[in-house]
Amino acid sequence: MSRANTPWQPVTAADLQWDDAANPVAAAFDDVYYSRDNGLEESRYVFLLGNQLPQRWQLHPEKHFCIGETGFGTGLNFLLTWQAWRDLPQPRPRLHYLSIEKFPLSRADLARALGQWPALENLASQLQQHYPGLIPGQHRLQFEDGAVTLDLWWEDAGHALPQLASLQLPLVDAWYLDGFAPARNEGMWRREVLHAVGQLCRDNATFATFTAAGQVRRELGAAGFTVEKVPGFGRKRECLRGTMTRERPAPAPASVTPWDLPAQRRAPPERVLVIGGGLAGCHTAYALARRGIAVTLLDQSALAAEGSGNEQGILYTRLSLKHSALTDFALQSFRYASALYFELLQRNALREGRDGALCGSFHQSDDAREMEALAGVLETVPELAQVLDADQANTILGIAQTSAGYWFPASGWLSPVAVCRALAAHPNISLMQDCGKLTVRLEDGGWQALRGAEIVAQASNAVIATGNAANQIPGLEWLPLQPIRGQTTDLSSSGPLKDLRAALCHKGYIAPARNGEHCIGATFGLQDPDSRLREDDHRENLARLAAAVPDYRDELSAIDTHALRGRVGYRCATPDYLPLVGAVPERQAFLRDYGQLRNNARQIIHSTGEYVPGLYLNTGHGSRGLTSTPIAAELLASQLCGEPPPMDRELCRALAPARFLLRDLSRNRI
Ligand SMILES: Cc1cc2nc3c(=O)[nH]c(=O)nc-3n(C[C@H](O)[C@H](O)[C@H](O)COP(=O)(O)OP(=O)(O)OC[C@H]3O[C@@H](n4cnc5c(N)ncnc54)[C@H](O)[C@@H]3O)c2cc1C
Ligand SMILES: C[S@@+](CC[C@H](N)C(=O)[O-])C[C@H]1O[C@@H](n2cnc3c(N)ncnc32)[C@H](O)[C@@H]1O
Repeated sequence: MSRANTPWQPVTAADLQWDDAANPVAAAFDDVYYSRDNGLEESRYVFLLGNQLPQRWQLHPEKHFCIGETGFGTGLNFLLTWQAWRDLPQPRPRLHYLSIEKFPLSRADLARALGQWPALENLASQLQQHYPGLIPGQHRLQFEDGAVTLDLWWEDAGHALPQLASLQLPLVDAWYLDGFAPARNEGMWRREVLHAVGQLCRDNATFATFTAAGQVRRELGAAGFTVEKVPGFGRKRECLRGTMTRERPAPAPASVTPWDLPAQRRAPPERVLVIGGGLAGCHTAYALARRGIAVTLLDQSALAAEGSGNEQGILYTRLSLKHSALTDFALQSFRYASALYFELLQRNALREGRDGALCGSFHQSDDAREMEALAGVLETVPELAQVLDADQANTILGIAQTSAGYWFPASGWLSPVAVCRALAAHPNISLMQDCGKLTVRLEDGGWQALRGAEIVAQASNAVIATGNAANQIPGLEWLPLQPIRGQTTDLSSSGPLKDLRAALCHKGYIAPARNGEHCIGATFGLQDPDSRLREDDHRENLARLAAAVPDYRDELSAIDTHALRGRVGYRCATPDYLPLVGAVPERQAFLRDYGQLRNNARQIIHSTGEYVPGLYLNTGHGSRGLTSTPIAAELLASQLCGEPPPMDRELCRALAPARFLLRDLSRNRI
């Protein structure tokens, strides 16, 4: 079932009561989150010991170990697992923890619940720092420099798990089945949920749960597990553990044409070529490098020499009263990007004020009706966005405003050039600049980067992140990319602009000064190949700023536009304003296998997709590359490494490059 066009709203928080011993109790289920006797010890016994953790980590043959949990609740299981992982000596597999939760705790309740465990204080405060609150969707959080990934899916397990299982990908090594007691929480223990648990298992996967209910035992047996009853914790007589030993349940019949499921899958790579050193290429290289993969990052010229070459850009997102792939991606990518830049700033890989600042951004709006409607909707997610009137905006920005709008406290500005440099400095990345115009070729099952006939580098996989030039690679000519010219203007900081404390987005944008200058922008020119700076465009940028900051109008009109500096760059847009992220389809095979869509676009065709082995794409980031490229890189890294994706299948399909072949077949255009 698609979310598109349904009302966008924050998720419903868990309704908590607190018992006499300050333990949280879920009012709707009349049940406790963990044992009243000793929550810590119960969790350790039932879930960690029940899955033979941490011992299994030391013998684990793969680079990552994935735990799936039904019911994130207070995060206690996660924190205990993270702590046990931390206590292990290196080398240890990366920890990937995927948890599904329909009724997340509010921030305040989470803080109160976790306040009970002084031994977990350090980890709990890191979790609270990045906790997504009640923003709907799937959220990727990373800790320990990317070695610990927490995926929080704020969804009903009855929807999320069958949807994940429909990827037909073994993802999970150990399950923590932690709904409330089956008699009170039937939805968490239904056959569809437990069968999806079985379908998602990797080889030798295990599960553990506190319950010993007969129905649960039978369904888990039917899901492929050999189930064992063992003594329960404390006063509980028995609980269940099990190992995947039998056949996993057959996949449910496809409800959509599975063009996004690759017919063949490759082993996780040891080395990857990334072609293109802009934001898309650098984030991709970084996401892979953090997974221990050797990356050769190649650019025809210097890092960030094209679209990503501006001194300042804004971390944008998008609000809407309705769900759509565009809105969901804008919000999920924004939350992830903001957390990643926060981490880079915190450890001085990016220098505050010089390379960026998460000082917030205010977006003017003249849509009073939408603001009124969203003001109510946003009430429980003030950390995401708030509606401000002009006076409130004055106070926050430090300069006079006449317009109301939206305030995004986790936003700010970044220097794309500095971001690219910081990411490319990862020790697992070998950077090759000034390579000249490269292309790629598949040879003996691996990929070569070629300058003319010369092999410059090779690896098992390649990612094309060459912005607008991606459709110059042979076989990719069909990609629908549109270059959009944009000119920025450098403005020395004077007058009221000196007081600007946060980014201001109007018909253009301005951020607090960097090295005494603001890089303001930007013009928007379709089909405009003229890459020279134009005085008219400077005037346009100044006029827009004057309209947004009326107090500054006179000073702006006195500026000699002839002497202004700036920069011209090209955004790379797609017809649906979403980037192109994922495996490269075999075009001819798609036209053959899905050709019947020309006659009936609604039918389900049961063939999986033929993809070019080991070739991926990351481009089409339009005007929002600072926001969209970090999660896009995570999506690619997850696909290459066989890890859970950072977003649900619906969104992955909305980003997959092959969508345009399906669209054109359905419209009978190809
Ligand atoms: C004027 C302007 C203002 C913008 N403002 C913002 C903003 O405020 N916020 C925001 O988030 N985004 C903004 N953007 C958009 C953002 O800059 C882009 O989305 C982002 O830079 C795209 O990154 P990319 O890596 O996909 O492409 P690019 O940065 O263009 O990188 C592509 C790289 O590939 C290399 N390359 C190309 N062909 C080859 C080849 N054959 N061989 C080897 N290398 C090759 C190029 O040299 C280049 O380095 C703005 C863009 C412009 C132009
Ligand atoms: C026992 S608590 C989990 C405790 C948690 N693991 C911890 O460490 O604190 C059960 C959780 O399941 C969630 N839940 C109940 N029904 C659900 C459903 N249908 N889908 C997803 N989550 C659900 C509840 O909101 C609750 O947070």
